[in-house]
Amino acid sequence: MTQVDVLLGLQWGDEGKGKIVDVLSPQYDLIARFQGGPNAGHTLEFDGKKFVLNTIPSGIFNEKTMNLIGNGVVIDPIILKRELDNLRNAGHDPIAKGKLVIARKAHLILPTHQLLDAANEQKMGKDKIGSTLKGIGPTYMDKTGRNGLRVGDTTLPDFKERYNKLVEKHKEILSHYDFEFDLTEKEAAFFEAIEFIKSIPHVDSEHFVNGYLKEGKTVLAEGAQGTLLDVDFGSYPFVTSSNTTTAGACTGLGIAPNKIGRVFGIFKAYCTRVGGGPFPTELDNEIGENLRQVGHEFGATTGRARRCGWIDLPALKYAIMLNGVTDLIMMKADVLDGFDTIYACTHYEHNGETIDYMPYDIITEKPVPVLKAIEGWKTDVTKVSQVEEIPAKLADYISYLQQELEVPVKYLSVGPDRVQTLILN
Ligand code: GDP
Ligand code: IMO
Ligand code: MG
Repeated sequence: MTQVDVLLGLQWGDEGKGKIVDVLSPQYDLIARFQGGPNAGHTLEFDGKKFVLNTIPSGIFNEKTMNLIGNGVVIDPIILKRELDNLRNAGHDPIAKGKLVIARKAHLILPTHQLLDAANEQKMGKDKIGSTLKGIGPTYMDKTGRNGLRVGDTTLPDFKERYNKLVEKHKEILSHYDFEFDLTEKEAAFFEAIEFIKSIPHVDSEHFVNGYLKEGKTVLAEGAQGTLLDVDFGSYPFVTSSNTTTAGACTGLGIAPNKIGRVFGIFKAYCTRVGGGPFPTELDNEIGENLRQVGHEFGATTGRARRCGWIDLPALKYAIMLNGVTDLIMMKADVLDGFDTIYACTHYEHNGETIDYMPYDIITEKPVPVLKAIEGWKTDVTKVSQVEEIPAKLADYISYLQQELEVPVKYLSVGPDRVQTLILN
């Protein structure tokens, strides 16, 4: 029996998960998304082409790999249909090839879930979460509130009535907000997309994944968002509404904890965050702007400018502990090519103490990062393809991180393309 490997983000999302899942997918028979929804934007680049996936697993471009959208994912049928239409127009048709299945227990995002998300954010004003406005929070609320509609419900004869019942509830809530809306167009698109969703094979992800394991096949679970956005352990309330950590792969696919194999933790050589909430190492200055421009740090889903800062080791150690990371993957080293000096946050000064963990009151009492200066490598690494060509100072930076984080860095990414990836250990 095989086990499920997991790949997930260790920071606040956008670490480069899509790129690496695509790189690793030839090693796996199945790639399975386990949480989140179209708040995710996973970018892949190869052969001069670029794709952004929101709901579809990033194994979709590998001919041999099956892809599963797991029960823990929340699905916007309109967005999923659009993603598949775009893929088909680009010459990739996973449905025709039988390479995509969807969990019937996955919950559906309704147009009114998006309205509720927007109404809520509008009401919070300057205290808003900065959500992606995709309806993620309200959909997970209906899931845990036991009101939600699932993919499997779409084939029931009374699906429309169930839909109407939930929408009435949502309209009742919306009537308490000062929020204008017109559902007509969205509803038509929703029901068109629902018909389309019915043409994708529906499966029970728990049996599907465990069946793969029993047959000795290899499975990689693809996370969305990042550990610091986890609803339990992230910088609450500035988080998303799912468990983005390894535990989420168990509940989001239907696998037991002892079926988890390797855990790939992915992080940028620096750090970014999009939306509101604490970010101790944020550089709200020219250096941050430089990172944003060189790293093209603009959201793949929303186009919003990402906040940028130095790497945060207490946060990474926390994420490694929560996820049981066995292998690290460092991304976007090339973005630091031009810096004379880079910095790593080793501790925080917090309420008069020096601490090395993320404090509970991170929201109200901003921790001040203690920074260690590290000499830059001042070399273009985007064409480095052999470990021996890695500049000594970049190798030193990686060694330092491995020593601090006590987990080996297995892969190094030096550019957005599939081929700009090195295996280190
Ligand atoms: P994800 O959400 O974790 O899949 O990450 P995103 O796709 O939202 O953001 C990562 C961005 O960085 C995308 O634009 C990628 O094309 C790009 N990218 C990934 N790896 C590298 C890298 O090593 N260097 C550079 N310069 N860009 C990268
Ligand atoms: P990927 O998978 C970065 C952030 C939003 C907001 C908070 C809550 O591409 O890494 P939500 O819409 O989930 O209710 O928003 O979470 N967020 C992400 N930030 N990458 C993502 O996904 C994100 N998905 C949600 O910006 O701060
Ligand atoms: Mg992203």
